[in-house]
Amino acid sequence: MRVGILGSGLMGSKLGTIFARAGHEVVFSYARSKEKLQQLARDAGANARAGTPGEAAAHADALLLAVHWSHFGDVLKRAGDLAGKAVVTCSLPMADDNSGLVVGLASSGAEKLAKMLPKARVVCAFNTVPSEVLFDVYEARRKATRPSLVYCGDDSGAKRVAAELIRDTGFDPVDAGPLRIARYTEPFALLVGELAYSGQHGPELAYRFERFGK
Ligand SMILES: NC(=O)c1ccc[n+]([C@@H]2O[C@H](COP(=O)([O-])OP(=O)(O)OC[C@H]3O[C@@H](n4cnc5c(N)ncnc54)[C@H](OP(=O)(O)O)[C@@H]3O)[C@@H](O)[C@H]2O)c1
Repeated sequence: MRVGILGSGLMGSKLGTIFARAGHEVVFSYARSKEKLQQLARDAGANARAGTPGEAAAHADALLLAVHWSHFGDVLKRAGDLAGKAVVTCSLPMADDNSGLVVGLASSGAEKLAKMLPKARVVCAFNTVPSEVLFDVYEARRKATRPSLVYCGDDSGAKRVAAELIRDTGFDPVDAGPLRIARYTEPFALLVGELAYSGQHGPELAYRFERFGK
């Protein structure tokens, strides 16, 4: 697929690199320096290049939205028309100082995004994964058992896109249902982050969803 990365920080750079190495055509965009984007593209290999958010969006089959909540307006304005695009968001609706979530249990950042982009096909995925996990922690385990990663959304086509990207990242995609499930995955992501980063001797964190029932 052609995958546009909107936000090339910890999440966007790691996921974009994995996608490029898995064979997708990746455009890294939205960082404070063009040089950083070019370096990322060089490191990710022949399938990656640097571009503007508009360029990343123009020909994309899928877009990864990986910016701070406070930057949604800016990056979406720069990306232009996203009608019909599968937009995979990993962004959490955090306060400016990252002290907590600003969207509560009655809604989620992903649902608010879907309202901002009524013609796009929004899926929520990857936001339960601290970016370090993507490369390091699961490297050994991945060979034995793939860890699960939940995603949710209302559009079946966009969900297929997300599931493929999740698989290419080394996880087992678990469909958690409609987009409103993001109300629960987003606070869960924060819990995971707190556990991973806040402890004095930060635990090596492993979590796994088992399929209940059948
Ligand atoms: N990190 C995680 O483990 C993790 C896990 C789950 C979900 N998330 C969510 O994923 C989203 C991204 O997180 P992250 O950790 O990747 O954030 P981050 O490292 O801060 O990346 C954000 C990106 O936005 C760019 N940016 C910021 N201000 C800008 C501006 N004025 N103009 C252009 N570019 C600008 C940054 O540029 P620079 O590269 O130049 O700094 C960076 O590339 C967040 O919503 C977070 O809640 C993160």
